[in-house]
Amino acid sequence: MFKTRVGIIGATGYSGMELLKILSRHSRVELTLVSSRAEKNTKITDYFPFLDKKYDTLLFSDIILEEIKEKCDLVFFATPSGTAKDLAPKLYHLGLKIIDISGDFRLSSIEDYQKWYQYDHPYPDLLNEVLYSLPEINRDMAEGESFISNPGCYPTSILLPLTPILKNISYSQPLIIDAKSGVTGAGKKVNPLYLFSEMNENFLAYKIAGTHQHIPEIEKYLSKWSGQNALINFNPHLLPLDRGILSTIYLPGLSEKEASIGTQSLIQAYKNEKFVKVLEKGLPKIKDVVHTNQCHIGFQYDKRTGCLILVSVIDNLLKGASGQAVQNMNLMLGIDEGEGLC
Ligand SMILES: NC(=O)c1ccc[n+]([C@@H]2O[C@H](COP(=O)([O-])OP(=O)(O)OC[C@H]3O[C@@H](n4cnc5c(N)ncnc54)[C@H](OP(=O)(O)O)[C@@H]3O)[C@@H](O)[C@H]2O)c1
Repeated sequence: MFKTRVGIIGATGYSGMELLKILSRHSRVELTLVSSRAEKNTKITDYFPFLDKKYDTLLFSDIILEEIKEKCDLVFFATPSGTAKDLAPKLYHLGLKIIDISGDFRLSSIEDYQKWYQYDHPYPDLLNEVLYSLPEINRDMAEGESFISNPGCYPTSILLPLTPILKNISYSQPLIIDAKSGVTGAGKKVNPLYLFSEMNENFLAYKIAGTHQHIPEIEKYLSKWSGQNALINFNPHLLPLDRGILSTIYLPGLSEKEASIGTQSLIQAYKNEKFVKVLEKGLPKIKDVVHTNQCHIGFQYDKRTGCLILVSVIDNLLKGASGQAVQNMNLMLGIDEGEGLC
């Protein structure tokens, strides 16, 4: 059977590790290149002993354009924001397929990148060309695509519940979003805040009041997909857990009828989906989705205050990153969307 030759740039990180787990059991790809500058020449099976012995001959390599071009048909970028923006376009222009898990191709303009990511984007023209793909919303666009920007973790947990609702009811107030993530959401970087002794038995808010870099991404795609201007009040928190995101979303000022139209649209939108489940009873829990590519969504209407409340959960490293990236790869390659993920 024909296998697509796949490389991972940033293979020692948390998202890279999850990509390795999924791709090593994927029937339609061959892992041909894995990068890590710090672990260059280390066997990947020494670094990740869970990998099968058949990968004993694969070593982490440095990032050399010619080598990537020769060894790969498709490349995942699982690198911190600011890395793919320079390298991914070069590989794309050489004919490779690209899936970027970072934020480097999610926004619209140089100004957005200066404001939210504090760098000058070198390829502004590509920002309109790369497809931002959240399969359950726009999967019909992904087949045959060559460059996909994978949605962020918080955005996935917010766009999935809100898009079908805002497509069907008119809403002009700022949406209030209170989101919480496990510590792997911050990647493997060393920071005293993420020490076990700081995080254990702790819970804290960070980047509140309109400062988190996921805000423009959420507002951009919510507005585009719902057809109305979305404004969000997004406040993230750090949970003392390895992984998992729980987002609580408040839509105040809705009548019971509007809330019912919204939640019926939500149920309808995902009734045939493999990876998104709308719970009609009870509320979702992080433990039900960690180590899966699923998003679970629950809802309740507060009659007393006229507020619709949505709760969604995902695994930040799977549906929020690498699981969704493989879903996107499968769509790009025209193979079963769930291959490697179920
Ligand atoms: N963690 C999550 O929950 C999550 C969810 C959604 C999206 N994302 C996004 O996915 C990307 C990766 O996140 P992560 O949490 O997996 O990161 P991570 O754990 O910090 O790993 C980063 C990886 O990239 C490599 N790397 C670092 N700087 C590099 C550079 N300048 N050039 C080339 N390689 C570099 C590192 O290896 P070497 O330094 O050895 O080369 C490492 O393998 C980020 O953009 C993040 O925003 C993360």
